[in-house]
Amino acid sequence: MKQELLFSQNTISSRTKELASQISADYSEKEPVIVGVLNGAVFFLADIVREMTIPLKIDFIRAASYGAGCSSSGSVRLTKGLEIPIKDKPVILVEDIVDTGLTLSKISDIIMEQGPESVKICSLIDKQERRENNIVIDYCGFQVKEGFLVGYGLDYDEQYRYLKDIYILRF
Ligand code: XMP
Ligand code: MG
Repeated sequence: MKQELLFSQNTISSRTKELASQISADYSEKEPVIVGVLNGAVFFLADIVREMTIPLKIDFIRAASYGAGCSSSGSVRLTKGLEIPIKDKPVILVEDIVDTGLTLSKISDIIMEQGPESVKICSLIDKQERRENNIVIDYCGFQVKEGFLVGYGLDYDEQYRYLKDIYILRF
């Protein structure tokens, strides 16, 4: 398998700063709960919150999707839920990549059941090739059309997550 550089550490970092200032402006009177989806979003979340200039809280969830391989089945359950109460709070879900959109829309539905003031979505990558719904990504780092991406949290069978840049994997 070959990796081809797509987004360098510098490119990711400057885009992350832009998103962070946009979010800081939009939430200037609020104290959002930033919810990272484990494991993929850890690096992106860690980097983006440190560029924000507003008070915020951080929590994580973990979702398991039934089904195997590189695509998602849309049948999702949380294997780790929220620990911070979010009732009447603004929530921002942070994801590494949105592909079919099924995982994040299910997660968003589950979060909604807890009565937050709002739920917005921030994803580093918006991969549109296989989108199956019209989920709104409120804060999007990069749009890509296709390809399997690894690095900066993104994995292939738990490999490559630790890489500083994002690559396209050529099978
Ligand atoms: P959805 O439900 O939006 O699922 O199809 C998103 C999840 O699918 C995985 N995924 C990827 N993981 N590189 C990855 O490392 C990719 O290019 C990719 N496309 C989809 C990922 O787990 C994400 O949370
Ligand atoms: Mg993921």
